[in-house]
Amino acid sequence: MRDVAAPLASGLEGVVVAETRLSEVDGERGRLTLAGHDVEDLAGGGVTFEDACGLLWGGALPGEAERESLRRAIAEGRTRAFALLGRLGDALQVGDGMDAIRAAVAHLSGDVPPAAIAGAVATFAAAWARRCAGEAPVAPDPALRLSADYLRMARGAAASEAEARELDTYLVTVSDHGMNASTFTARVVTSTGSDAISAVVAAIGALKGPLHGGAPGPVLDMLDAIAAKAGEGSAPPPGCAERWIQAELAAGRRIMGMGHRIYRVRDPRAAVLERAIERLERTAGGARSARLALAREVERAAEAALRARHPDRPLRANVEFYTAVLLDALGLPRALFAPTFAVGRVAGWCAHIDEQRRVGRLIRPSSRYIGGVPEAAAPPH
Ligand code: COA
Repeated sequence: MRDVAAPLASGLEGVVVAETRLSEVDGERGRLTLAGHDVEDLAGGGVTFEDACGLLWGGALPGEAERESLRRAIAEGRTRAFALLGRLGDALQVGDGMDAIRAAVAHLSGDVPPAAIAGAVATFAAAWARRCAGEAPVAPDPALRLSADYLRMARGAAASEAEARELDTYLVTVSDHGMNASTFTARVVTSTGSDAISAVVAAIGALKGPLHGGAPGPVLDMLDAIAAKAGEGSAPPPGCAERWIQAELAAGRRIMGMGHRIYRVRDPRAAVLERAIERLERTAGGARSARLALAREVERAAEAALRARHPDRPLRANVEFYTAVLLDALGLPRALFAPTFAVGRVAGWCAHIDEQRRVGRLIRPSSRYIGGVPEAAAPPH
């Protein structure tokens, strides 16, 4: 029988579909807990991407020996993926980095272990960036941790320890985030009894969308467009950010990097990344301060404009806002921002795939039929 009375939640908001030990997003207080730790305590505190993998895959931050074994396993994943590059057909010959890593990861098959998947995503993303720059891919260095090697492979130049540390900050910060759209996608695919690669390929597809992981490139475009209103090297004139934002809203466009489905306060990850940019700037002698100062001004202007339009719906900076500034400061091209998000988030996807397997139940919600009724079933006139 059709249940016309059941409430319709087209965005599944408020619907609890799983129990998880992996992360909790407290949207009212602006807190993100990753397997028992505040994101602020983990990210920027010397915790590496490998440590976050150990935490999410094993339930606790790894000790020295386990950390080294994870580092080796993920490095081996990079080496194996690099050896595959010649057999990927035209997977990396595309203009969009998410299309590229989705197609490349699809060349792996079956139940590839998490460390191998994490190494592969980083290697494919970096190789795609090199191809776009017209350069040959850089072979992984298995002696490095993922953050340092990813920067090296993507840019073709070795990373300083400060740069690797702040990329770790970013990767740890985005490693997991409750039942977000790509994680849910991975869990739905897993719930059918399908394999880990199929789940990760589907999750990459979900992350690609601008409402989820595709926003940081456009955030940088926005900052550049506002900066272009000022002369070379000078600050934008007062009111410039406000005018630009009002024009975007008047044209019916959303401000990228603002708003969140769960957070009603500022996304705590924005603060973590803002601090990472400050640290990076200090080590670079303050050379990049103009971009951070502009980002802060644009955030203030966007927040005020959105508050005026939506007084009852707080729309504040999300993780993508400062992702754009941080990844740019790390010398990554903007087209690589979304794939770099996938490099971090794959840690969470793999952990959720494992968790969902243990649940062992098909995820299969219902829909409300609003189409035509077959004649035979229609009530007589
Ligand atoms: N800029 C302008 N308006 C925005 C906005 C933004 N960034 N985010 C939300 N709104 C507006 C919507 O237009 C809607 O207005 P309406 O009620 O007049 O139609 C209202 O706020 C509620 O938005 P809704 O679409 O219900 O919110 P959501 O929970 O579905 O969306 C996001 C959450 C993240 C998808 C949304 O805030 C957004 O699109 N942000 C920009 C993209 C982005 O930064 N993505 C990265 C997310 S981490």
